[in-house]
Amino acid sequence: MTTATPDLSDRFRELLDRLSHKSVEDYYNPYQTFDWADELPEDDWWMSPDLLSVHGSALHDGLDEATLKRLSKWESINFYSLNVHGIRELIIEVVDRIHTPGFEIPSDFFHHFIGEENEHMWFFSEFCRRYGDKIYTGAALKSAPTEKRAPEVENFLVFARILFFEEMVDFYNTRMAQDTTLHETIRQVNRIHHQDESRHIAFGRELVSHLHQRMKAAVDEAELREVEAYLKRYIVFSLHSFYNPHVYRDAGIADPLAMREALIEDEGRKAVQRKVIRKPMAFFLKSGIFSDDSLPD
Ligand SMILES: [Fe+2]
Ligand SMILES: [Fe+2]
Repeated sequence: MTTATPDLSDRFRELLDRLSHKSVEDYYNPYQTFDWADELPEDDWWMSPDLLSVHGSALHDGLDEATLKRLSKWESINFYSLNVHGIRELIIEVVDRIHTPGFEIPSDFFHHFIGEENEHMWFFSEFCRRYGDKIYTGAALKSAPTEKRAPEVENFLVFARILFFEEMVDFYNTRMAQDTTLHETIRQVNRIHHQDESRHIAFGRELVSHLHQRMKAAVDEAELREVEAYLKRYIVFSLHSFYNPHVYRDAGIADPLAMREALIEDEGRKAVQRKVIRKPMAFFLKSGIFSDDSLPD
């Protein structure tokens, strides 16, 4: 009789079965689920004030409430636009891997994942078009172009980026779902997305840990540190996509580019950003993906 080594794939299979089952149980028709208001009042907050890109910065107190509310409208459209573009890119990557060698175990769950993300992309774009009459284009969470890497590295990076993106978005979703001062349509979009994403994040953490082990067996220490540096640059790039000059222009701010630059440099914002990414950073550290919690400027 052979003693089986503790097999990551057994644990992984179990989790996938549970999550796939939950996806089926919780399935809803997004085209019938949402209670779309005809319009959202212009003098309401469209986003929790503490999620605005100026919150905690030196610039905040120089803006009056009317400007902050306009900003909350356009920053919410920017947030859902970021989701639309981020989802499109992650669907492409997952479709590219489903039913290919190395992804036999998660392929069944990938079907749920792709299906659910398509629906998320639909309801986020619907929100943007109904209430903002546009989807911001400059807001894509595109990764920086990379040189050709080993497939183990590429696979790890794709799912580490997806996981980070989903965890970052979930911080905003969770807050807005609970914010009773927001319109019910806004709360509902955020609540429903958060419910689906809790499955994706549980899955993503397991898959990323698994792919990290595979990558570690395939490359040397220097490359692992390079992967860490790359992922950290991606995190900072993603955080900066909330400082969108097109949003500032739509909110009536005089110098949108200067606003973006000032907020990127602002120490108060750096502290707020750390809160936004607290959970994924803790995961990357605990799983040994990151050797420390430093981030580039
Ligand atoms: Fe999603
Ligand atoms: Fe997701």
